[in-house]
Amino acid sequence: MMMNTRERPLRVPDIQAKKARGEKITMLTAYDAWMARILANSGVVDMLLVGDSLGMVELGYDTTIPVTMSDMIRHTRAVSQGAPNALVVVDMPFLTHRISVAETIRNAGRLVQRGGATAVKLEGGRSIVRAVERIVSAGIPVMGHLGLLPQSVHQVGGFRRQATRVEEQDILLADAVALQEAGAFAIVLECVPDTLARDVSQTLRLPIIGIGAGPDCDGQVLVTHDLLGLTGPGAPTFVKKYAALGDAITTAVRSFSDDVRSGRFSTRPLKQVENA
Ligand code: KIV
Repeated sequence: MMMNTRERPLRVPDIQAKKARGEKITMLTAYDAWMARILANSGVVDMLLVGDSLGMVELGYDTTIPVTMSDMIRHTRAVSQGAPNALVVVDMPFLTHRISVAETIRNAGRLVQRGGATAVKLEGGRSIVRAVERIVSAGIPVMGHLGLLPQSVHQVGGFRRQATRVEEQDILLADAVALQEAGAFAIVLECVPDTLARDVSQTLRLPIIGIGAGPDCDGQVLVTHDLLGLTGPGAPTFVKKYAALGDAITTAVRSFSDDVRSGRFSTRPLKQVENA
């Protein structure tokens, strides 16, 4: 297996340099310290994303809309404790960058100062350009997010493919250019046709990180639970499962339960367990 571990963790300019060199970029979600530690220690994940998918993956909500600033600060803190040198990007939750410029900067600042994030991610196109400019001018790197915007799920009528019509594709491209001009350092592009994702990646200077957007983006992001096989029937169909941890957990707890019920369960002296 090809291992591509690096000597030092990446920073924001390194992500842009990767695109310039034609190297693919990887980002995976983490919501807690133990997963952040495992991903960072793998030495091959470029960025950790504390996504507001937290609400659906960890907190059991149907959408990302109920996720709060307190949720994001708590989980970002955990991730940055678990992976202190990682480049940690964190989602600004629903409406927290839409109400006023002052509130936007305060919220972005809290995620960096209290959570330990390196950068923030905002859903939206031209309507959020002012917010992006102000956060960037406050010294906080911003990642954009276009295509399927889960925080607007009620407006678009479900978690479905976006920008399938030519007019919508023109709008998306103009939004991407506007985010680039506003100073975003990268953009997540979610659930759009592969050809559009390829065109946007080729047109823009900044890296386009795809999810459900085909193989030709500058990088890929996935919800870690999906790639590990830790999600249920609602998991996105485009994600290749690289492990079946959900099945492994079921097998382990059944073995434990069988041992307890059959009287085979035993606790071994601590020394023996350590040497096992
Ligand atoms: O919240 C999240 O995990 C995300 C990814 C799906 C890109 O925004």
